[in-house]
Amino acid sequence: MSQTTIALIYGTDTNNTEEVGHKIAEQYAELGVNVELFNVKDIEVSLLEEYPMLIMGIPTWDFGGIQADWEDLGDSLSELSLQGKTIALYGLGDQFGYGDYFVDAMGWLYEKLLPTQATFIGQWSTEGYDFEASRACINTKEYFIGLAIDEDQQFELTDQRIEQWVIQLYAERELEAA
Ligand SMILES: Cc1cc2nc3c(=O)[nH]c(=O)nc-3n(C[C@H](O)[C@H](O)[C@H](O)COP(=O)(O)O)c2cc1C
Repeated sequence: MSQTTIALIYGTDTNNTEEVGHKIAEQYAELGVNVELFNVKDIEVSLLEEYPMLIMGIPTWDFGGIQADWEDLGDSLSELSLQGKTIALYGLGDQFGYGDYFVDAMGWLYEKLLPTQATFIGQWSTEGYDFEASRACINTKEYFIGLAIDEDQQFELTDQRIEQWVIQLYAERELEAA
């Protein structure tokens, strides 16, 4: 089964989350899947209802704080109806600088989207990271709810993490459709 166009929506203050978004799109292109990128500050929230699959990227700022453009959408995210749609999340953070709040905003985004009834894929192992706590670890510290990327401390691992994650998403999506 072919995978249709994916919308990737990111928010960013210093462009890291956007750059990771481009890399995810490039990786998907190698699998023959088209990914359209949007900066969250430029979209209407209803755009999220137009795609069968959404990838959303968010960095964490100021001790567990939410990137401002995502925060502006706030509760309107929870009011969306996304039943039957697939969502994968990724978060940017700094595990040594902010180890008590590592990629917290990804956890916030998950909490906001939970009422939409979407299906989440792309959980990611916490192995290989060194942090104290994260709101993005939902029931166990063994997994993040999505991909965690650390451009500040582990930039050398970013490309391989993205490659592996996109392959995982592709496979999970095929299974879902089967
Ligand atoms: C002042 C400041 C506060 C930060 N707070 C956090 C934090 O609470 N948790 C975290 O995981 N990362 C934190 N970070 C790291 C950023 O999330 C990281 O640099 C990220 O790559 C920025 O993404 P962006 O360029 O897309 O905005 C902080 C960075 C700075 C400079």
